[in-house]
Amino acid sequence: MHITPWEVRGEVNYDEIIKEFGVELITDDIIERLKKYTNNIHVLLRRKIFFAHREFEDWLDSFEKGIKVILYTGRGPSGYTHLGHLIPWIFTKYLQDVFKADLYFQVTDDEKFLIHPEMSMEDIENFTNDNILDIIAVGFDPERTKIFTNLNYKEIYRIAVRIARHITFSTAKATFGFTESSNIGIIFFPAMQAAPCFLYQILEGKDAHVLIPCAIDQEPYWRISRDVAPKLRFRKPAGIYSKFIPGLGANGKMSTSHPETCIFLKDSPEDVKRKIWNAFTGGQPTLKEQKEKGGNPNICVVYWYLYFYFEDDDKKVEEIYNECIIGKRICGECKELLTKKIIEFLIEHQKRREKAKDMVEKYLLKD
Ligand code: TYM
Repeated sequence: MHITPWEVRGEVNYDEIIKEFGVELITDDIIERLKKYTNNIHVLLRRKIFFAHREFEDWLDSFEKGIKVILYTGRGPSGYTHLGHLIPWIFTKYLQDVFKADLYFQVTDDEKFLIHPEMSMEDIENFTNDNILDIIAVGFDPERTKIFTNLNYKEIYRIAVRIARHITFSTAKATFGFTESSNIGIIFFPAMQAAPCFLYQILEGKDAHVLIPCAIDQEPYWRISRDVAPKLRFRKPAGIYSKFIPGLGANGKMSTSHPETCIFLKDSPEDVKRKIWNAFTGGQPTLKEQKEKGGNPNICVVYWYLYFYFEDDDKKVEEIYNECIIGKRICGECKELLTKKIIEFLIEHQKRREKAKDMVEKYLLKD
């Protein structure tokens, strides 16, 4: 298993991650506590797709004490947005709605330019503009959400240099795996991603407690942010972390570099049908064997997609699992159900994305 913000290789073992990263599991007690603030426990939390956190309960304490709570998340614009990216954003919107929190959304155009030597500045700008439409289409509250890109919003650099002064090369190397051949831009970059942890406090001159929802691959950044926070006299940011949404193939997270096993938010209904039809399942080679031996939902990506988000009904999801293992259900049924759900989801997203074109100015944070 190898996890950095730029690469996830091998079989991901979440128990090992908990130990290695020193984060904590989301417990049923935390979920119970959330019921104080909302009757609706999000499916991503009920199914523990958001499975780990760092000081999430302290963030809730701050909320209860009336301390300003802020959300911070982001996107690196090196391609079209896929369903995996959307998972932390959907969850961030949920948190924004429940806690009426302000959100800073960072677009790391600088990062993607630095790590993709094959891409021009113009390529990155095109993906930036494209991805911002997907971000807005998630439906964040326009009054409480500010989106910015590192190359266009200069204030972020002023904060990053204050952070960078406290991070040695040896810490950055140990945290991110930099080598002698890493370019010097990417070595500085972690300070840029840490900077929004302190943006509200610096802009407003006030205390705040920041929570970062993201997948677990981004966690190394928050380790250095937390180390630096007391040196700058700010609160340490808290985090809440999701698992990776797998690609539609036999293994690996959903990734733009494997487009046939990846659902892009721009995909047409035909693309979705084809990709899901070819997805890896836990089914038997023949219908006869499926009926005799049953399938294996534990290794089936089609089942997983229904489980992690697309089948909200807990009873239904359990029924699908049970019917599969006894051979009462065939793969075609699950594929059809998932295709229908994803197509409906994408049609709605694509409509909101169209409308987002007129809303960009409202969301953008400017110097
Ligand atoms: P990026 O663009 O690689 O990913 C955007 C968000 O999606 C998460 N993610 C996934 N979640 C579930 N399943 C997947 N298969 C999957 N692939 C990616 C990422 O964890 C991330 O939350 N450097 C960052 C941009 C960034 C950022 C942040 C992200 C800047 N500030 C603050 C999170 C929080 C990046 O390139 O993300």
